[in-house]
Amino acid sequence: MARLQHFGWFLSRGFGPHGWGREYLEWDYDWTDPRLYQQSARTLEQAGLDLVIIEDAISLGNPSTLDLRIRGAYGGPKHDPTALAPYLLDATERLGVAPTVNVLSWPPYLAARHFQTQQHLSKGRAGVNVVTDVGSSRHFGLEPLGHDAAYDRADEWLRGLRELWGGWKPGALVADAASGVYADASKLDAVQHRGEYFDFDGPLNAIPSIDGDPVIVSPGGSPRGLGFAGAHSDVQLALAPLDANLVADYRAKVHEAVAAAGRRAEEITVLFVLKPILVDSPEEADRLVAASASPDDATLLRIAAEQSSDLETDLTGQDLDRPLDPAIFADHVSRGSIKGLLGKRESFADATLRELLTSKARLGRLSDRSGVVGTAEELADFIEAFGEAGNDGFIFSGDLHPVTVHRMLDRLVPILRRRGILRREFGGRSLRSHLRDF
Ligand SMILES: Cc1cc2nc3c(=O)[nH]c(=O)nc-3n(C[C@H](O)[C@H](O)[C@H](O)COP(=O)(O)O)c2cc1C
Repeated sequence: MARLQHFGWFLSRGFGPHGWGREYLEWDYDWTDPRLYQQSARTLEQAGLDLVIIEDAISLGNPSTLDLRIRGAYGGPKHDPTALAPYLLDATERLGVAPTVNVLSWPPYLAARHFQTQQHLSKGRAGVNVVTDVGSSRHFGLEPLGHDAAYDRADEWLRGLRELWGGWKPGALVADAASGVYADASKLDAVQHRGEYFDFDGPLNAIPSIDGDPVIVSPGGSPRGLGFAGAHSDVQLALAPLDANLVADYRAKVHEAVAAAGRRAEEITVLFVLKPILVDSPEEADRLVAASASPDDATLLRIAAEQSSDLETDLTGQDLDRPLDPAIFADHVSRGSIKGLLGKRESFADATLRELLTSKARLGRLSDRSGVVGTAEELADFIEAFGEAGNDGFIFSGDLHPVTVHRMLDRLVPILRRRGILRREFGGRSLRSHLRDF
């Protein structure tokens, strides 16, 4: 019998225009209406998924390239995922919900209070995906920090949240009507935080939850990002490698970081984010993969527009048959996104733009680990093989739209259940307890 694994969903374009540019726009869902997401969240819960993570960016990016971000709705608009989370929690009973929060946008006191309140309202199903991007600093009147310093700030932020959450010592909450005492102020820690990035006083006026503190999720993969995860996270995300051997390597790195912070490996769940393309038959998968090897110009232009949004650099007007001049990328452009465009190539001189975009268009088969196209059975084989390599689970990535959710799960769920990979029931009631069920 295969091992049970945890599953979740990543709303990968955030709380934004769902279906835009896709044929299912014709379903006439309104992306600003919470009922769209509630409908999907109920299906995810029925399917036995542990949690939903909602991507976010708090900015439309650099002022000079706003049009690239919003023209095709690739990078915005985006509404606040912390406002959507309560609607999803209210529509479900088991599913955990973790909106993304950039630490530069929430003072620690406010964040500690908000998420602890959410933890009570949801009976322990609140989570926070903590990110450190500095591109939106200007909206807060802040100078952007460097990469590692942004993690230092996040580290201090989370320690601050924990000081506030832990400020109510055992016995502080009395709630004894007979003696007329609700709470005992002598058991409240005043909390006076004076740090490098934050100064604030406590105590927090929100009480601790019997389900423990909200679940911390983190996606950063650099050494500093893993250090953050090791010290703080209940869930660490990473993009799924296609090779099961790499699972063990990545898990070892995460567990090393956890041990370095004095924690145990069981305290963290490593979940790989995957965006499979499911089709009805192996023949259809082969056809799709073969067709992707020589994309037409319209497809390349669509990919160029997507890349232009991520890179905040207009690639749509560039000559497809020449190498790109790296000087077109201004200083603010993410180095990671530039590397992503290059793929395995060393430099822009090594390929024309057409070749770079064709590499992005090219699909591969799940069955031979060359890509993400396959049938539900082939995806289940892939998931099972990862489980054998010790994997904790997967997060499926895509729109949180009923069409996308059903397309992914309708066939896959019964197969995973039959194989004993996907849970049929939950143990306790909180997200953290779900993560520790197996
Ligand atoms: C699965 C996944 C989800 C992510 N979600 C977000 C997000 O919602 N918002 C954001 O600003 N960054 C997000 N990131 C980017 C990370 O926060 C981080 O900047 C990136 O992974 C690079 O890691 P590093 O800075 O530790 O090198 C995500 C990354 C991954 C792999």
